[in-house]
Amino acid sequence: MTTELKLEVEFNKVIRERHSVRKYDPSWKISDAEIKEILGDAILAPSSSNLQPWRFLVITDQALKEKVLPIAHNQQQIVDASATIAVIGDIEAYRNADKIYEYAEAAGYVTAEVGAAMAKRSKDGYSSMPQEKLKEIALVDGGLVSMQLMLAAKAKGYDTVPMGGFNPEQFRELFNIPERYVTVMLIALGKAAAEGRSTARLPLNEVTQWNGFQG
Ligand SMILES: Cc1cc2nc3c(=O)[nH]c(=O)nc-3n(C[C@H](O)[C@H](O)[C@H](O)COP(=O)(O)O)c2cc1C
Repeated sequence: MTTELKLEVEFNKVIRERHSVRKYDPSWKISDAEIKEILGDAILAPSSSNLQPWRFLVITDQALKEKVLPIAHNQQQIVDASATIAVIGDIEAYRNADKIYEYAEAAGYVTAEVGAAMAKRSKDGYSSMPQEKLKEIALVDGGLVSMQLMLAAKAKGYDTVPMGGFNPEQFRELFNIPERYVTVMLIALGKAAAEGRSTARLPLNEVTQWNGFQG
């Protein structure tokens, strides 16, 4: 079944009604166009120096999903959801700085001169950072885009579950992912067959301190 769900839900509902869903309708196929819309919303997320280190590997092919299944601890949502999206981080994202500022210039956001100077600053600054720091940045930015992806999906009536439960080395090997990239998380995306369970949150006052931090 290929159907396009076109509802847009208000933000308050989206953030309250998003739950990790682990049971999906395996007969539901999300169109590529809808997946692109969701990813298009996701990439509006902020990133360190706007270097946008995220890359997406969209897995809709059933045979491929079956190969990912054992790598992801046999989590059934991998094969039942319409797509499994691997969010991947580029630890050499600064290599795209020139391109990013060329797009900004074409859109009229910066002059060529300012764009070139900003791109140079990014390239100089990031290329001299230790690998560990670059990896950390890719993971932080990858987390932001992942969250936005999940909310964008929910706003369109779809559900998701983020997954850290997979073997990153085996996943990297399966898809020949070069060393330059880190896996951030897998996200199952599809039409829920059963609602996600509600989960409790620590009260706000237990996770918030004002103007000082006691640990
Ligand atoms: C980084 C990360 C990794 C996660 N890994 C898994 C996973 O491998 N399998 C799974 O079923 N849920 C996974 N979850 C989902 C969490 O269990 C879930 O977000 C949490 O219990 C809160 O529930 P909620 O998402 O419904 O609000 C993961 C969540 C995050 C943020």
